[in-house]
Amino acid sequence: MDLRFNTKCVQGGYTPGNGEPRQIPIIQSTTFKYDTSEDMGKLFDLEASGYFYSRLQNPTCDHVAAKICELEGGTAAMLTGSGQSANFYAVFNIAGCGDHVVSSASIYGGSFNLFAVTMKRMGIEFTFVDPDCTEEELNAAFRPNTKAVFGETIANPALTVLDIEKFAKAAHAHGVPLIVDNTFATPVNCRPFEWGADIVTHSTTKYMDGHGAAVGGCIVDSGKFDWTAYPEKFACLCTPDESYHGVTYTERFGLAGAYITKATAQLMRDLGSVQSPQSAFILNLGLESLHVRMKRHCENALAVASYLEKHPKISWVNYCSLPGNKYYDLAQKYLPSGSCGVVSFGIKGGRTAAEVFMKHLKVGAIETHVADARTCILHPASSTHRQMNDAELAAAGVGADLVRMSCGLEDAQDLIDDIAQALEQV
Ligand SMILES: Cc1ncc(COP(=O)(O)O)c(C=O)c1O
Repeated sequence: MDLRFNTKCVQGGYTPGNGEPRQIPIIQSTTFKYDTSEDMGKLFDLEASGYFYSRLQNPTCDHVAAKICELEGGTAAMLTGSGQSANFYAVFNIAGCGDHVVSSASIYGGSFNLFAVTMKRMGIEFTFVDPDCTEEELNAAFRPNTKAVFGETIANPALTVLDIEKFAKAAHAHGVPLIVDNTFATPVNCRPFEWGADIVTHSTTKYMDGHGAAVGGCIVDSGKFDWTAYPEKFACLCTPDESYHGVTYTERFGLAGAYITKATAQLMRDLGSVQSPQSAFILNLGLESLHVRMKRHCENALAVASYLEKHPKISWVNYCSLPGNKYYDLAQKYLPSGSCGVVSFGIKGGRTAAEVFMKHLKVGAIETHVADARTCILHPASSTHRQMNDAELAAAGVGADLVRMSCGLEDAQDLIDDIAQALEQV
């Protein structure tokens, strides 16, 4: 039966047989037992499917990955230990020393550092482009050794909306896949494969878990990018992997499975970064209510943004679902039923006023986290970015007055009342 999205959130990825556990079982075992060495040998040769060591694959994690795969409309998926490792693996699976990647400049700071510093040390160069650039400017960023394009559906923290079709068109014109980090939108609000993206990543730590309980990540493949059309560029997928008994991933697993099988068999084997079965179980509890929670996160954020917009002590509000926002039209196209729960705004009076405001909040808690059921709020200038002076903050696009609020699942009126009383103290 072809199930609808909401039903997949609740029941996708795992169908118990007669008398089997209703919940996804937590298989808390590092290893798996076989009767003969031949049986196990077949697994090592990737000739039979099954489990042998939880650093590569674990049944609990696979059920949860299968659910996220269904939600995104992909052909294969894997869980990772964090969103950071998901983005690292997604790129490193197809790009190595001497290669180049085009990325939107408007991405999560941790991803920017991973690309611009750590992966640069591995010999992979990134060109960062303004997400609002013209098609000509975007095309000009490509080089003969470009292997992928990267962007975030809704960027953290700038809240820019990626023109997925524009980025997909440019990527495909240059024979490379588009990787989209869909963390903030979640597949409830946007399914990037429907707009041309080839690979999707997630920090499941955010809305997918949604309760601030488990760090994790996920990579999903659409199965649509034809690696075999560029066998030299993607030799890692189209020629025998000597480190894996000479398997050629595209031949053995087809376009539907080659990319994720390689990332599992090669990168997980060598680098680790697995998600624990316990964390995967917790993640699945979050996924079961993702469609219900996202709706409320978005309603609360829109109510808060609309209130802030009219408040005399607020100088600006940034929320892409708010009419008049620079990204409103793109948000209506890619995120018509809602964007995310994160709103940023500026308080008149700058750093000092923002500090006073933060001090008086009673419902919103000061945290670096976002996307939790509980409202969390951050003033970067006095916390994560406190080493910067006002001029440096402005240059980084994080003004001294900027407050980022991740609206939780509380009553919207309580969030508004809390903001109102804290602003009265400013
Ligand atoms: C859009 C985005 N991608 C990736 C990450 C990294 O995820 P994690 O913290 O799970 O490693 C984050 C973290 O905030 C994020 O916001």
